[in-house]
Amino acid sequence: MRPNASGSIPVISIRDLSKTYVIGKKTRVDALRGVSLDVYPGEFVAIMGPSGSGKSTFMNLLGCLDRPTSGQYWLAGKLVSKLSSDELASIRNRLIGFVFQGFNLLGRATAMSNVELPMVYAGLPKRERESRARKVLTLVGLGGRLHHKPPELSGGQQQRVAVARALVNGPSLLLADEPTGNLDSRTSVEIMGVLQALNDQGLTIVLVTHDSKIAEYARRQVAFLDGRIVRDEPVVARRSAQDEWAALIEADAIESQRQTQVKEETP
Ligand SMILES: Nc1ncnc2c1ncn2[C@@H]1O[C@H](COP(=O)(O)OP(=O)(O)O)[C@@H](O)[C@H]1O
Ligand SMILES: [Mg+2]
Repeated sequence: MRPNASGSIPVISIRDLSKTYVIGKKTRVDALRGVSLDVYPGEFVAIMGPSGSGKSTFMNLLGCLDRPTSGQYWLAGKLVSKLSSDELASIRNRLIGFVFQGFNLLGRATAMSNVELPMVYAGLPKRERESRARKVLTLVGLGGRLHHKPPELSGGQQQRVAVARALVNGPSLLLADEPTGNLDSRTSVEIMGVLQALNDQGLTIVLVTHDSKIAEYARRQVAFLDGRIVRDEPVVARRSAQDEWAALIEADAIESQRQTQVKEETP
């Protein structure tokens, strides 16, 4: 494993990773064909590519949800490609936070309870769970919504709860599979702003998207085609979702002020 210029070892180091799905006796699908990639602490990588190019297969391997057919994967310096499913589960719970397209929240539980859940599994005492949950919910801007349930929250707020839940065990890596897939463009900006802010604080993020506009918020883009990486380059003119979101909020404020004035002027 190669340290970078500042001496950090990669969060993700992958060499010649392949995955072949075998269906029945005759059919084999080579979903990944020799993928190599290093991701260092603090990176924000967008994984792109058309449907069927291997993105989900790759994310499942990154997330220790599945094992490769061949090749090596080091996660935070540990060789995980040969671990048993039990060992993978424990690594996964400690090192990786997941955010999905459908927020996967418990509909009848408060934001606090949803975020506490991974810590219940980890066996943390109630007091510790509550203090950590409050902290991460505040970090994603939901300090004022701790006891709201998902139906009482906007789509963007629900995805913020899911992001807080992903962060609560202090992961080395946040994996997001189409996190804005169910959100309108405005709410997508909101969520990408949250992810960019977390990345600015040092969190390593790998995000899958088929939307090239969303990929412009990342710092690096890796494109898949037919199970191989065909492009890997930095984002030159990175968009700032936080600035775009602030501009949207300001435009709203101006508009609502204008409407109030119109009302006052109407006799
Ligand atoms: N569980 C599976 N069993 C068999 N084939 C699969 C399975 N998952 C994915 N594939 C196949 O592997 C290829 C890559 O799929 P996938 O990783 O889902 O791509 P993407 O997420 O980019 O759409 C596709 O040809 C797909 O049909
Ligand atoms: Mg997919």
